[in-house]
Amino acid sequence: MTTTDVHVFFLLLCLFSPKVAAHGRIPTTLDGPFSPRTRRFDPSLRLGSDDVPMDDPKLAKKVGFNFPEQIALAISFSHTSMWVSWVTGDAQIGKNVMPLDPSTVGSEVWYGEESGKYSFVQNGTAMVYNQLYPFEGLLNYTSGIIHHVRLDGLKPGTRYYYKCGDSSLKAMSKEHTFETFPTSPDHFLRKIAVVGDLGLTLNSTSTIDHLSKNDPSLILMVGDLSYANQYLTTGGKGVPCYGCAFPDAPIRETYQPRWDGWGRFMEPLTSKIPMMVIEGNHEIEPQARGINFSSYLTRFAVPSLESHSESNFYYSFNAGGIHFIMLGAYIDYNQTGAQYAWLKKDLLKVDRELPPGLWQLGILLGDGGNIEQIDIEHADDPGKCPSKNPSIPEFGGICHLNFSSGPAKGKFCWDQQPEWSAFRESSFGHGILEVINSTYALWTWHRNQDAYKESSKGDQIYIVRQPEICLANIAKVSSKDQ
Ligand SMILES: *[C@@H]1O[C@H](CO)[C@@H](O)[C@H](O)[C@H]1NC(C)=O
Ligand SMILES: *[C@@H]1O[C@H](CO)[C@@H](O)[C@H](O)[C@H]1NC(C)=O
Ligand SMILES: *[C@@H]1O[C@H](CO)[C@@H](O)[C@H](O)[C@H]1NC(C)=O
Ligand SMILES: *[C@@H]1O[C@H](CO)[C@@H](O)[C@H](O)[C@H]1NC(C)=O
Ligand SMILES: *[C@@H]1O[C@H](CO)[C@@H](O)[C@H](O)[C@H]1NC(C)=O
Ligand SMILES: *[C@@H]1O[C@H](CO)[C@@H](O)[C@H](O)[C@H]1NC(C)=O
Ligand SMILES: *[C@@H]1O[C@H](CO)[C@@H](O)[C@H](O)[C@H]1NC(C)=O
Repeated sequence: MTTTDVHVFFLLLCLFSPKVAAHGRIPTTLDGPFSPRTRRFDPSLRLGSDDVPMDDPKLAKKVGFNFPEQIALAISFSHTSMWVSWVTGDAQIGKNVMPLDPSTVGSEVWYGEESGKYSFVQNGTAMVYNQLYPFEGLLNYTSGIIHHVRLDGLKPGTRYYYKCGDSSLKAMSKEHTFETFPTSPDHFLRKIAVVGDLGLTLNSTSTIDHLSKNDPSLILMVGDLSYANQYLTTGGKGVPCYGCAFPDAPIRETYQPRWDGWGRFMEPLTSKIPMMVIEGNHEIEPQARGINFSSYLTRFAVPSLESHSESNFYYSFNAGGIHFIMLGAYIDYNQTGAQYAWLKKDLLKVDRELPPGLWQLGILLGDGGNIEQIDIEHADDPGKCPSKNPSIPEFGGICHLNFSSGPAKGKFCWDQQPEWSAFRESSFGHGILEVINSTYALWTWHRNQDAYKESSKGDQIYIVRQPEICLANIAKVSSKDQ
């Protein structure tokens, strides 16, 4: 992400102010507002956040042709169904690439409740995508065959064992396993990991190592996944400056083999824990003929039909007593658009049809460890307000407007830490959300910097739900909108 974009991963209904964990008692959102605090970054920790090289064993293809790799799970609409996705065949990059025929390899998942015994088989679909650049010096890419299979009729709170692949080609994966979520709103999801802006650097590796130790039951990957679009430039792999190396290319080449490396890097985790993704600006990846988001749209199965969004750019699902709403920040979200209309319907449905006590939360997140390094400065530090013509990012842009209200009214930057920002510290890491009961959820930010020589918990707070206030507000909004 750039310093200006943020990733919305689910919906905010009740406002709260976070605060760093005090000694002893963990604060709650009811204790706020808290006074703003900044913890300055130790600049010596900024060193060496290089991209993991393509020949790193974690990124290497380890299976033969037609055998599944990059295996990943995603929740379908509820606990009774699960998506299984994987890739077969070899992607190609270079001149005159020839797309593989997806009908040549089947998409089967064999699964059951006992290891080695698969009572059920489900077939799915397969597809490929291309990333094409009709410009001098740029390379074309065509993907391996990407398979998606939806398993239905699963029992809640149950461990399943599965293999995927094509049995007729004798090309099935080794056995993997996952556990479905509990159904009742009284049995909440144990731990939900939240990661944004992950990338594929040494720091990303550290984030995933720390996250794995927390053993979450669900991963929310809230945008900017592989940073394939920056591998050739910021990744420092031979092109010092895009414009000078490819003066005639109106769009930037994104290095798609990075996605395959990322899928392999993530497989140990994503083959056993479902990962729900949403697009960030690094997923746009424009190519010839105005096509964009090809990799995101083809590689990931999301419950868009199941949640009636009909768009992989936004969707919702239920898991362990929580209704998750994944919103897209890089497609239209204005009040006349399809996303807004769908969101309104989805919320009313939750309000009317789903059991009371369901959680709906919203929190913004970034800094999973990507190649753009860590932001250590604040626009309100003396002399750090960005100039009005900063280098324009490829997407997103910076809004050159003065604030129209509040303490910064009439100015482009605040001159102090704003009151809505309770605590800030520069670190890479991940968040863990634990829903304790129908009104308490514990949010913990786990930083990677073990070098701070203290617990890696950088920030912790109980988020307290106040259903009486939220429901009254939904009722007000929906009656106003109708
Ligand atoms: C990123 O990784 C490098 C190499 O392990 C480390 O020196 C650096 O401190 C890390 N940066 C952050 C912000 O964690
Ligand atoms: C890439 O694909 C485009 C569109 O098919 C084609 O015009 C171009 O020549 C290809 N480039 C290379 C290097 O093969
Ligand atoms: C599922 O796919 C396999 C090939 O991988 C095929 O042999 C089998 O007939 C398919 N089953 C159904 C029910 O379509
Ligand atoms: C993606 O492509 C469509 C169709 O060309 C275009 O309308 C849209 O603006 C593009 N979106 C982004 C974020 O570039
Ligand atoms: C909202 O989005 C629609 C569809 O993209 C567009 O036609 C309309 O002009 C937008 N309205 C505003 C206020 O931005
Ligand atoms: C924004 O505020 C600055 C003073 O901080 C002023 O010089 C500038 O003209 C303002 N810009 C706009 C667009 O109002
Ligand atoms: C939920 O958990 C919190 C923290 O342990 C506790 O204070 C509260 O009473 C619990 N509420 C319910 C409804 O069980």
